[in-house]
Amino acid sequence: MTLLRLDASIQGDRSASSALADTVVAELTAARPETPVVTRHLGQDPLPADAWALATSAGFVAEAERSAEQRAALDLAAALADEVRAADALVLALPLYNYGVSQHAKAWIDLVTVGFGTGVPALEGKPTVLVTTRGGAFGEGTPREGWDHNTAYLRRILADLWLADLTVVEREFTLVGVNPALDQFAELAAVMAKQAEEDAVAAGRALAAR
Ligand SMILES: Cc1cc2nc3c(=O)[nH]c(=O)nc-3n(C[C@H](O)[C@H](O)[C@H](O)COP(=O)(O)O)c2cc1C
Repeated sequence: MTLLRLDASIQGDRSASSALADTVVAELTAARPETPVVTRHLGQDPLPADAWALATSAGFVAEAERSAEQRAALDLAAALADEVRAADALVLALPLYNYGVSQHAKAWIDLVTVGFGTGVPALEGKPTVLVTTRGGAFGEGTPREGWDHNTAYLRRILADLWLADLTVVEREFTLVGVNPALDQFAELAAVMAKQAEEDAVAAGRALAAR
């Protein structure tokens, strides 16, 4: 089994999503040490922000007339799609920023969509663990219920469009202990952190059992 691991945190060593993804991968590789793990860090090594528009516009231009930039963007989209195609399983650590999907993750999704073709189920049947983290809490009855525009979007793309066999590991209130205004939620945040860690362990073991 070849694993593709993506990270999109911009927070380096302080990343909660990367820490959970570490747990998933550690559980998998402890059980199956021979597993090749291909990594791509979209937060530290971002895809060019203009590549998607260039690749898309290339579709409206005869092949011989495409610019060097359009060709490079199409090659990048094809390479990203190949990376996905070559993976038997995926671990995607994609956090919430500014109430939405990280721009780095969106750039990857858009280019993979070009690489496969719109509507192609890029992950059909592939075990995929989405790890996602949020600083606040957005559950039912909370003041910001409905403000998480990251998780539902990612579920739509990964499971509904790309047909991944999706497991979601999520952790809320990661800003508790960082933002003093959230100190009152320390107990709840600790419970959420523990649950997320347990879910990450279970997801890694489930991958290993595939
Ligand atoms: C630039 C930036 C924007 C953020 N925007 C939000 C936000 O809109 N809502 C929220 O609940 N948390 C927000 N957060 C907190 C992150 O969701 C939180 O730090 C989470 O753990 C991010 O994943 P990471 O730790 O893997 O980077 C933001 C954090 C950063 C750095």
